[in-house]
Amino acid sequence: MGITMNRPKICVPIIAPMRDSILNQAREYAGLSADMVEWRVDFYAGYEKELPSIVEELKVLLKDKELLVTLRSEAEGGEPNGGRFHYEKLLGTLLEQDVADYIDVELDRMPELVQQKRHTKLIGSYHNFQATPKEDEIIAKLTEAKERGCDIGKLACMPSAEEEVDILLRATAKMKEMYPQYPIITMSMGKLGEKSRLYGGLYGSGVSFGCVGEGSAPGQIPFEKLKETFDKIYSGKRHIALIGFMGVGKSTISKELKYLSNRPEVDTDAWIEEKEGRRISDIFAAEGEEYFRQQETAMIDELGTMKASIVSCGGGMALREMNVRKLQALGEVVLLTARPETIFERVRYSTNRPILNGNMNVEFISELMEKRRPFYEKAATVTIRTDGRRVDEIAKEILEKCC
Ligand code: S3P
Repeated sequence: MGITMNRPKICVPIIAPMRDSILNQAREYAGLSADMVEWRVDFYAGYEKELPSIVEELKVLLKDKELLVTLRSEAEGGEPNGGRFHYEKLLGTLLEQDVADYIDVELDRMPELVQQKRHTKLIGSYHNFQATPKEDEIIAKLTEAKERGCDIGKLACMPSAEEEVDILLRATAKMKEMYPQYPIITMSMGKLGEKSRLYGGLYGSGVSFGCVGEGSAPGQIPFEKLKETFDKIYSGKRHIALIGFMGVGKSTISKELKYLSNRPEVDTDAWIEEKEGRRISDIFAAEGEEYFRQQETAMIDELGTMKASIVSCGGGMALREMNVRKLQALGEVVLLTARPETIFERVRYSTNRPILNGNMNVEFISELMEKRRPFYEKAATVTIRTDGRRVDEIAKEILEKCC
């Protein structure tokens, strides 16, 4: 799948109007474990001539944090106040000064500055507050940033449905597959887009913009929550997660792995049942499958706080790409396979598998397995056949391949 697992940097904005308040905000941020601070010049209401000295002071106050300076135009979500600055001139001054680590350059009004840059890096950005561009348009914009000499490409857009957030994430992953070395920053804005800010790093986005108090763009997530989530999902590869169709033997093999490896065992279904205080079949009946799937996706983050474990996943866990990316960030993903006939024999008397309600037969199992096969295969980092094999033999093979 070519997943980039690097923890994204966290960037927090300075959006104060005057020199003193700007510098005070920087002092406050100096104590945070954020990686980057963005000074949004369009919020600045003071004299233009003081600007370079503020940049100097910011750089000193922020110590080891990187400084990004941005004059966001109103058309791309900036404050109207920013219109009083001459865009090209201001960016020229910043490049000449060469103190900021990054300056933002909007691709749609990018001056011919690229040649002048020395230490300061350029972030070529594009913002669409109305809509989410199509996947190939997103890739085209990010590629434009690359081709026009920007060190980093950035794209932020507004979703009007959940699927549009997925378009943005998919485009991010594709761009990263095409140019693995080229840094990009992408985000879906607003409430709907929150998951792109929390999990965009799993798709290849290199920076997430968080807020401390008031944010500088819609949907920004409080810094502390971003950090807490990143601490979990980028906590290192150490778990062994078992995936595969219902009845393939995940629970049984998981117990054997626990015994052989002396690691704790986590069953995602059991974890969700305990948290919800009801059985899977009752969750499905009362809330529907989608609700259950959301619980699965949220549950994986908690694995980030646990020591190296054997994780037995519900049979549908690998169907969502987000789950797969999270699991792969946390360890090996082992696919167990078995023939539909074997599965049927194992699950035929089960009353807690709502997906098979009224369809407990080999044909249905076989068809559903075929539908799911590409998802399982794409998710797996290791695949193990189980038909006709002893549990201890299977478990030993898994440990050999994963440890
Ligand atoms: C499901 C499998 C179940 C459970 C839920 C949905 C599925 O887990 O998560 O009933 O969609 O395959 P098991 O595979 O452990 O039965």
